[in-house]
Order: sequence, then C-alpha cells, then structure tokens
Amino acid sequence: VTELVPEAAAPIDAGGVMAVLDEEYGRARTLPAQAYLSEDVLAWERRHMFDGAWVCIGRSDLAPAPREQRAIQLGSEGLLLVRGDDGVLRAFSNTCRHRGHELLPAGAAVNKQAIRCPYHSWVYALDGRLQAATRFSDVPGFDPGEFPLIGLEVAEMHGWVFLNMSGDAPPFTDWTGNLAEVLDPWEPGRLFVGATHEYVVKANWKTIVENYLECYHCPNIHPELCRVSPPESARGMENTGAWIGGPMDLEDFAETMSMTGKSTGVPIRGLSAEQRRRVFYMAVFPNLLISPHPDYVMAHRLEPVSPGETHVECSWLFPPESKDRPDFDASYASDFWDITNGEDFAACESVYRGVGMRGYRPGPFDYREAAVHAIQQVVARAYLTGEVTKPQAVDMTRR
Ligand code: FES
Ligand SMILES: [Fe+2]
Repeated sequence: VTELVPEAAAPIDAGGVMAVLDEEYGRARTLPAQAYLSEDVLAWERRHMFDGAWVCIGRSDLAPAPREQRAIQLGSEGLLLVRGDDGVLRAFSNTCRHRGHELLPAGAAVNKQAIRCPYHSWVYALDGRLQAATRFSDVPGFDPGEFPLIGLEVAEMHGWVFLNMSGDAPPFTDWTGNLAEVLDPWEPGRLFVGATHEYVVKANWKTIVENYLECYHCPNIHPELCRVSPPESARGMENTGAWIGGPMDLEDFAETMSMTGKSTGVPIRGLSAEQRRRVFYMAVFPNLLISPHPDYVMAHRLEPVSPGETHVECSWLFPPESKDRPDFDASYASDFWDITNGEDFAACESVYRGVGMRGYRPGPFDYREAAVHAIQQVVARAYLTGEVTKPQAVDMTRR
C-alpha cells in the first residue's frame, strides 16, 4: 500500500495513477495521459526523478585524462567536470565564488593544472579549493578557505558518468545495486565508441523507455530484428538496483544483431558460452538503456526536452581488438540498430500522438509487458510519494 505524501506528490490525478499499481496485468492500467503530456508533470519529474536521482550525462571520455576540464549545460544548470591529478572525476557548479561568472563556457574543454575564472582570474585547484584571489590578499576579513567551488555528486561506472544534481539521491552503489556486477563480463569501460547517432524523438521520454522494455511489438514492426532474435525469447533478470531488464536469444545462425547475423567485429573477451548466444537489454532508471551484445555494447542516453520531445544519443561500443580486423566497420551494428531505432521511434511518436487524443484511455498490460508494468509502477509510486524506488524483478513468461 502506497503512503500518500501530498507535498512531494506529482501534480497529477492520483486515482489514475493508482490503477498502475494493480498486480493483475489485465486489471492494471497504464499511466494516465497527463503523465506524458503535462509540462507540470515533466517539471516535477526533472526535480524528483532526474535531479534527485543518478542521471547518466555521458561517457568518461568527457574528461578522459588528469587536468581535463569540460563545461556541460544540463537544462538551466551548468556544471564543470574536472579530472584531478589523482585520476578522480569531480563535478562543480560552473559558477565562480567571486561574482558568479561561468568558469568555462558551456561545451568548452581545456587541459590545465588549475581552474581559472576568466572574469577576475580567481584560481581554484582541481579539487575545487580556492588557491589565489587576485589582489584580494589585503581585503580585510577575507578567508580564501570560505570560497571553494560548490561540488556536485558524480560517479563513474564502467565508463559512464552519472550525476546527482540535488545531492539527495541514495549513495551511487546503493542506487545501482548489482548492475555494475551484472555488466562486469562485458567490461564496458575498456570499449571504445565506434559510432554515435543522435535522434530527436517527438515522444515523451517514458514512452521510449517503455518501448525498449517489451518485445510484444517486435513481430509487427521489426522484421530485421525478428530474423536474428526470436521475439518470444525475452526473459527477466535478478535486479537489486534501480534498473530492470534481461536477455533475449540469438537465432542459431546469428553471431550478433546485424542485418545478416554476421559480425565484422570480434567477440568480447571472457564472455561465457551463454553470454555469447544472447543480447541483454537493461534500462537504468531514469535515462540510460544499456544493451550488451556478444561483440559490442549499445547504449541509448535520453534527455527530455519537453513532454513531447526527447533527445536520444545512441552509441555503439566495441572492444579495442576489433580494430585488428581489417574488415572491421562499426556500421554492421549501427546500421542494423539505426533501422530498428527508426521503427521504434516511429512507434513511440505515434503513441505520443495517440495519447493526446480525445479517445485515449489507459489500457491493460500483456505478460510480455511485465517490465513495462514494473517501470510504470516505479513512476506511479514516485508520483504518489515523491520517492523513487527500485523496480521489481519480472518473469516475462508468467501469464
Ligand atoms: S567572478 Fe570569477 S573571478 Fe570574479
Ligand atoms: Fe522495438
């Protein structure tokens, strides 16, 4: 039973939201239209589900080496990512403690031994301590120790960078649970980005996550995918963190997900026989979708722009040994998924238009949509209480 905490609750009709919590798929109902259409709901989600949680902001190569500094704009917030001489990645609010000038313009990157504000040249160490305030030495009552840069919570896992803007999220390892361990065999941190595609999808960010979590739609819209992976093979997985997902099988003839089933890369070292016959799909709440394949790892990173628009960055990561193959070309993976992404995003956009129609009513779930139900329950509980909880493990074979 969900306890109501009205101050933290989302600005949405609670009755409709409660219907998601029914454990019986046929009796449960999907989230109400407001969850997808309302500006106020998105503003609430940004506060509670994004700023209040751990959000993926990209890969560690945003600041790959010691002394690298990069300014990133996230909505109205600017942050400065800095890798220290100790190799530790830190994040600061991109605002000077003197009069608030930005330390580096958004998008810019430098490699310097200190952080220098361009306005009056205050200089900070890479760990944020104020080192020198130009000509401030004789200002009475001034103590430089009082003016370090304001740090933000940042964490790295397998080469992805996560940020907790508010500082209120649970510790990162509590939040992600067994995810790091589950991903260990693929060693995503050692893989290189072989291809990246950017998409602007005219749909709500949740619709894209929901679509990713079910293959009930696959026989209808993914002829290419169904040739190499049986759509009924989706299974759930034990999850102790804020993620949900599981594997699907490859057809016997297929080495990987590609147009022909052939790979022009190389298998990722150290995978078990079973891992080499499967593709895994994991949604890390709220905005990262990680899909380990036998020979590459695909990742979608979502950034909501408005209720009906989401920016999606899709990247394909390969083991460095792939480059030893003279015929290696990342497109065997990215072309296949670009077609499949296109099919998925067209469906999401159609859903977005349909949800906005007069005749839209929340519908029931199929057992193949167990993970969609689980993630909608996370959203529904958060709407009602303000607390983001972890999704329940699901069994997609349960009828
Ligand atoms: S605002 Fe940064 S040194 Fe003055
Ligand atoms: Fe799909």
